[in-house]
Order: sequence, then C-alpha cells, then structure tokens
Amino acid sequence: MGSFADLTIVGDPAALAETAAHAIVDAATQAVAARGRFTIALAGGATPRATYGRLALPPFRDRMPWERTWIFFGDERGVSPDHPESNYRMVREALLEKVPIPPAHVLRIRGEAEDPEVAAAAYARTLAEVFETRRGELPRFDLILLGLGIDGHTASLFPGSPALKEVFRMVAAVHAAAAAVPQRLTLTFPVLNAAAYVVFLVSGIEKAKVVRAVLSEQAMLPAGMVRPTDGRLLWILDRAAASSLPAEGR
Ligand code: 6PG
Repeated sequence: MGSFADLTIVGDPAALAETAAHAIVDAATQAVAARGRFTIALAGGATPRATYGRLALPPFRDRMPWERTWIFFGDERGVSPDHPESNYRMVREALLEKVPIPPAHVLRIRGEAEDPEVAAAAYARTLAEVFETRRGELPRFDLILLGLGIDGHTASLFPGSPALKEVFRMVAAVHAAAAAVPQRLTLTFPVLNAAAYVVFLVSGIEKAKVVRAVLSEQAMLPAGMVRPTDGRLLWILDRAAASSLPAEGR
C-alpha cells in the first residue's frame, strides 16, 4: 500500500464525523495561532454532511474560531444555491445556518452562472484576492476536505477529464457525463496539492474497492493524484470503506 498518506480507520460514520470535526478544529486552532486566520475548502456530496453537522454542535462549535475562518468549496454542481444537488445548500443547511461565521467569509462557487468559464475565472479571482496571491502564485489552503467517488474521482476531477491535466488554471469548468449533474466547477490539482493539509473522508462498503485501488496505487486515479507538495495528507475511513485494504494497511 502506498506510503504517501496517513490513514485513520474508525468504526462507523458517526465516529468518522467526530474524528473529522476534531481534525478541523485542531487545524483551525493551529492556523489562527500561526497566521491569524483559517482557510478551508469543503467537500461536497453526502459523506461530509455528518461532519459538518458535528462541527455545528458543542464542543466543536464553541472551539472553532468562526470570526477568523474563511470557507471555500472544492467544487460545485451547475445548479442554483437552493437546488437539492447544490453543495453550497448542503453546507448551508448542515453548518452555515448554525454557526456565527461572518457571511463575507463564505465564498461559494456560482454554479448557477450562465457561462461556467466565467464563473471559474471569477472564483479564481476570489481565491487570489482572499489569499492575496500574486500572478502565478497558488493559494495555500490550511485545510482541504475531499471525498472519493466509486470511480476514483475527487472534487469534480473525474477519470479521463481534460481538467486532470490542468496545470495553470486554479478553477476549471468540467462536464462529467457520468454525474447526476454533469456541469460542474472544480478546484484543480495545482490548488489541491498546494494545500498545507488535505483530508479525505470516505465511508461505506461501496467505497472499499476504490479505496484499495487508490491507496495501493494500482491505478493512477484522480484521487491518487492528490499529493500535497509540501503538506500533510490524511485519509479518514470508516471500517466498511477500509475493509478491502490489506491487513497491514488497517
Ligand atoms: C461532489 C463531491 C464529490 C464527492 C464524491 C463522493 O460534489 O459530489 O465533490 O467528489 O466527494 O462524489 O460523494 P459521496 O460522499 O456522496 O459518496
């Protein structure tokens, strides 16, 4: 099994949410102490909802430096922010409506934009503004949360997508034919791999096969291309998602 990542295996989805919320609060506390603020990109899909819900409850809610936290999104579907498939809506309902984060500190991707390319460029500008990066410089997130699709995709970086080869643009508009909402916007590998800390959250027996494929590096799947250049990579799995890993990998 690849030794490019740390692995934490927990019993069930509730333990995954607890462990992930703890990791987020720890990262936030360290970032604020070191740099005065905490920047995080959130994952979409179903898995992280429980983590966001746990973060919105004590003790994590009260330990988070909300006033100094800036929330971005790893990707977004091509829908309005009130659409059932919207990652922003999921995060708003599970977390944002329940915590005192300044609204200006929540930077959603405008999935509803008429022209996805324009929305991608606009989000890249927002990243540059908030991170105060110069041209060509990449934003270094304190933490990026990612999920894993059964085909090995992460964020909206799908197998075979031209976006996998993107080395300049920070945000790409993609068309993922296999996805429920094919039109998507996603952070690209340069941004993911510039992060100080990336955490994958994976739950469920249906992910066991792809978890093994990614972590054993059998195939170069998009999720396996997430390797922070100068940062930490952690996979938090529940027992079901880890059930196909070789014994020594558990
Ligand atoms: C999305 C996510 C996507 C997700 C995986 C896993 O917008 O859906 O960015 O990469 O993390 O598809 O989704 P589940 O957690 O729903 O299995």
